[in-house]
Amino acid sequence: MDQLISLCKRRGFIFPGSEIYGGLANAWDFGPLGVALKNNIKRSWWQRFVEERDDMYGLDAALLMNRRVWQASGHESTFSDPLVECKNCHTRIREDQLPEDKKCPSCGKKEFTTPRQFNLMLKTFLGPAEEDANIVYFRPETAQAIFVDFKQIIDTYAPKLPFGIAQIGKAFRNEITPGNFIFRTREFEQMEIEYFIKNTDVWNDSFEMWLKEMNNWMTSIGIDMQKVHNLDVPKEELAHYSKRTVDVEFDFPFGKKELFGIAYRGDFDLQSHQTASGESLEYFDEETKERILPHVIEPSIGVERMLLAILASAYREDPLETTSSEAGEQEKRIWLDLPMRMAPYKAAVFPLLSNKPELISKAQEIRARLQGAWPGFFPIAFDKSGNIGKRYRRQDEIGTPYCFTVDFQTLEDNTVTVRDRNTMQQERISVSEVRKFLEGKMRE
Ligand code: GAP
Repeated sequence: MDQLISLCKRRGFIFPGSEIYGGLANAWDFGPLGVALKNNIKRSWWQRFVEERDDMYGLDAALLMNRRVWQASGHESTFSDPLVECKNCHTRIREDQLPEDKKCPSCGKKEFTTPRQFNLMLKTFLGPAEEDANIVYFRPETAQAIFVDFKQIIDTYAPKLPFGIAQIGKAFRNEITPGNFIFRTREFEQMEIEYFIKNTDVWNDSFEMWLKEMNNWMTSIGIDMQKVHNLDVPKEELAHYSKRTVDVEFDFPFGKKELFGIAYRGDFDLQSHQTASGESLEYFDEETKERILPHVIEPSIGVERMLLAILASAYREDPLETTSSEAGEQEKRIWLDLPMRMAPYKAAVFPLLSNKPELISKAQEIRARLQGAWPGFFPIAFDKSGNIGKRYRRQDEIGTPYCFTVDFQTLEDNTVTVRDRNTMQQERISVSEVRKFLEGKMRE
């Protein structure tokens, strides 16, 4: 984990937030490469589950919602964790996260205050007066907006069941014990789907379909599936409205922990909002000519957790032969085995020497042509600092799959070397073939 965090900071993926002011506990900022990786994850999810499906509707709802939403959903009264405080050192911790020996993780003493329920929603006030009537909450999940906007979608698009509504956006929780880098934070992003089915449908078929869909997607974005485990939440721990919830867990460097969840929530949410708002959220079933409240399957993913799982799946350290031309001063090679679609840069272009203008301008020309071929979707790095070995090292560490080098032979026969991140093998190809080469690799 320490190596991963160090790499993230060194290469500008993720660094501590507000650092020049001493930081803010468990707030993390995503630098240029971090935001590129995050965007690649979100784009891949959106493309696969919204754009490529005929049964999905996208949504981007306001983050602040009427307080009554959270009263109806039950969050205001029950979205809380049991908080205890160590009587000796005053460390606050979730009672259900105390170690098995029930000792305080900070001082080792065993005396705690009686647990009290601590609501996880972050509260603020709209407008200048800090009074009860102006209370609003930063949403603790994106899902509720989907239920609240359900009527808009059915009235506007008249979708046929089953269909889904999908949303990506920020969520906030005043976690008692955030930690493990970006695993548990107070501000994070979710990618959530509410997939509505008929109340008479065999819900477990849809549930299994979503488990499979998520597995296929995780495979495509480079998650090490050997490290993924499905935990069927035991019946006695299920929410009263849920018939099945699966916590999809991942072997993170700090242990096996929840990566995301899939839950069958019945019609609990639509029913709650219908009752509280007084608006009918019923769906007219053309086949049976009945008004029904659909049931729902909910795959809910944290973007940062998925990003951490991708980095943990991709992180590699290889010993380097000291005789290797790439060894330089380092004895090990650190690299990220990212799939091309996740890599922040799809390729890099270098001039062999940094003091030869003719090599530099040729490399810049190749890079500009490649980048222009797929605007916005195919960032190509350019680097001329340090020697070529160091440049390969830098690109390896950020997971760039291919590096093209312009040398003196390029000026004679219009060929470049292409070096493969995984094998470190090099071959020569014609400059006119570079684009086709990358397109082919992208499709693999
Ligand atoms: N709408 C259902 C829901 O929000 P959840 O299990 O509370 O369910 C879903 O959250 C996912 O959101 C989690 O599996 C995790 O990936 C992510 N998540 C939840 N709390 C988080 C936190 N404090 N920091 C980072 N990610 C979090």
